[in-house]
Amino acid sequence: MRPRPQRLERLPEQYFAALLTRVAAAAAQEGEPLVDLGRGNPETGPPPHVVEALRSSALRADVHGYAHFRGSPELKEALAARYREVYGVMLDPLREVAIVPGGKFALMEFALVAAAPGETILLPEPGYPDYFSAVALAEATSRPSGDLDSPAAALYLNYPSNPTAAAAPAGVFAAAVEWAERAGGAVLHDFAYGDLVFDGRRPESFLAEPGAREVGIELFSMSKSYGMAGWRIAFLVGNEELVARVNELQDHLFAGIFQPLQDAAVAALTGPQGSVEVRRATYERRRDRALAALPGVEARSEGTFYVWLRLPEGVTAERLLVEQRVAVAPGEGFGPSGAGWARLSLAVADELLDAGLERLQRAVL
Ligand SMILES: Cc1ncc(COP(=O)(O)O)c(C=O)c1O
Repeated sequence: MRPRPQRLERLPEQYFAALLTRVAAAAAQEGEPLVDLGRGNPETGPPPHVVEALRSSALRADVHGYAHFRGSPELKEALAARYREVYGVMLDPLREVAIVPGGKFALMEFALVAAAPGETILLPEPGYPDYFSAVALAEATSRPSGDLDSPAAALYLNYPSNPTAAAAPAGVFAAAVEWAERAGGAVLHDFAYGDLVFDGRRPESFLAEPGAREVGIELFSMSKSYGMAGWRIAFLVGNEELVARVNELQDHLFAGIFQPLQDAAVAALTGPQGSVEVRRATYERRRDRALAALPGVEARSEGTFYVWLRLPEGVTAERLLVEQRVAVAPGEGFGPSGAGWARLSLAVADELLDAGLERLQRAVL
C-alpha cells in the first residue's frame, strides 16, 4: 500500500478518543472505582414519547428504504418552529435548514464548504478539539479567533463554550458579523449547548444578531437539549448559500437519514418541552454544588454541563486520575491557553458527582 495520504497525516490525535483510552487504562488498575468527570456524555436519554415515536415509526413498512436525500420537510418545519418560539428567529425551512447526521459531522462539513485548501480558519482558544480536526480535513490552517483584525475564510464561534462554560459575552456576535462583512468570511456558531444556560440567562442564537444570516450558519444539535447524543442528528441553519453547499456535499456523503430517526426528532421538537428545562435546571443545580464544594478555587460555569477549573500549582489531570482516581478533561487538550485548567463534567448522576468532588477536594483544597 502507498503511504497514508497527507489528509490523514494532518489529523491531530482525537482528544476524546485518547482521553477515553487513558481513563479506561486507569480504571483497570487496582484501586477504588474510578469516577469519570472527564467525558461530556448526557447521563439521561430523551423523554419516553421520543423513544415511542422511533418505535412506532420503525414498525411501519414504508420507512426502511433510502430516506429523502435532503431530509423530511416536516422535520425542517419542526426545527424552524422551535427556532421561532425559543430563539425568536424566523427560518425558511426549505432554504435555511439542513439536516445533518450529528453535530460532529457538521463541524467537519462547515470547514469543507467554507474554506479552500491553504486558507485560514479562525478558532476559539481554548476551544472544542474537533475544530482542529475540521481544519485538517479541509487542508486549511488555523489561527486563534481572539484577533478579529486579520482576514480569514471562516470563523468558528461556540457559546455557551466547551470547554470554558462561558455564555456569549455582550457584543461577541456583532463583532463576528462585522468581521465576516469586512473579511468576506463565513461564520459557524456552534450552539450545541444553546439551551443550557444558567443564572436567568436566555438562550441566545447567533442568528438573532442583525446581519448574521447573511454571513453565517448555526449548529443546533439534538444531543444536549434532548439527551439524544447517541442518535446522531443535528441541523445547520441560517445562510442560504452555506446551507445549499452543505446539502450538496451531503448528497455525496450519505443517502438520507433513517426516517424513524427523523420522525423521533420531530416528536422531540414538537412534543412537550418540559424535559429541556429539567435538564437545564439539573445542570445549574449541579454547577452550584460543584462551585460550593471547591471554595477558593478559580472555577467558572455560565452554561453547558461543564465547570472550567484552574488547577492549583502542582495538581494535574494525570495526578488526579492516578492518585485520586477521578478523571477530568485536561485543559491543554483544548489549546495552549487551557494548560493549567481542567474541564469537569456535570453530566453524571448526583452521587457520582459528589464522589468526584470529594476526591477533587482532597487534591485541590
Ligand atoms: C462544542 C461542541 N460542539 C459540537 C458537539 C457535537 O455534538 P453532536 O455530534 O453530539 O451533535 C459537541 C459534543 O460534545 C460539543 O461539545
